[in-house]
Amino acid sequence: MAAGNNRVEGKVALVTGGASGIGKAIAETLAEQGAEVIVADVAEEAGRAVAKAIGGRFQALDVSDPAAWDAAMASIDRLDVLVNNAGVGGSGGSIEEAGTDDWDRVMAVNGKGVFLGCKAGVAVMKRGNGGSIINMSSIAGLVGAPTLPVYCASKGAVRLLTKSVALHCARKGYGIRCNSVHPSYTDTPMVDRMIDKHHDPERLRTALTGAAPLGRMGAPEDVAGAVLYLASDDSAFVTGTELVVDGGIVSM
Ligand SMILES: NC(=O)c1ccc[n+]([C@@H]2O[C@H](COP(=O)([O-])OP(=O)(O)OC[C@H]3O[C@@H](n4cnc5c(N)ncnc54)[C@H](O)[C@@H]3O)[C@@H](O)[C@H]2O)c1
Repeated sequence: MAAGNNRVEGKVALVTGGASGIGKAIAETLAEQGAEVIVADVAEEAGRAVAKAIGGRFQALDVSDPAAWDAAMASIDRLDVLVNNAGVGGSGGSIEEAGTDDWDRVMAVNGKGVFLGCKAGVAVMKRGNGGSIINMSSIAGLVGAPTLPVYCASKGAVRLLTKSVALHCARKGYGIRCNSVHPSYTDTPMVDRMIDKHHDPERLRTALTGAAPLGRMGAPEDVAGAVLYLASDDSAFVTGTELVVDGGIVSM
């Protein structure tokens, strides 16, 4: 990472969905930059492996389950950074094909999961010195995609939930900032699964790679760098913002 060391030294950070892809890169980056990291995920084996590799600890957590949040937070007395990153992809299919089963499945994790995370984060951070809550949205929370109606709805919800939380915490003087991050296609297992399911995987991979003006797909580390900025005190006056990490796609 280019911009200095120990940018989050002494901070305690919890990363949901930290077992894979973007969450794993975020956990690694925050640990590398001095934070004590809690990797939280439903994928226990992979999550434990990431936690072990970075010298952090693992917490089993299904973000869509309020009781699981209560249990996870009971073991944490201090939290400076919460990254609500866990998410699932949509089934693919237009509004004419999408069913309520897809809505319930995706919204449970991407919508309710971030809502519960924000509630849990505010509750613990306001007892301490405040903190930074970072919610993973997507460019699909900024612009529509015809075959991802439910995913777009879930990521749009994250965008405005974030602003509401930011304004509430500012008004209360809690010292808690809340921002959203909006990656474009990023080379992770989630995108691999989307490509594998496509009728012409090679064509889709080429299309996703060429979609960004910067001429490549995003890397998990690109998103982790943006999260590091929002987690660090460099962003002390930044709240309610939407940080787009897309190689220029939504500027077209
Ligand atoms: N990869 C992309 O192109 C892309 C683009 C924009 C936004 N995002 C968002 O970034 C985030 C991470 O995506 P990724 O590509 O790294 O996906 P991924 O599938 O590689 O990782 C997602 C992680 O979330 C965990 N998870 C899923 N449901 C969970 C639950 N209920 N509770 C706790 N953990 C759960 C999974 O076990 C997994 O470890 C997601 O919110 C996704 O929507 C991804």
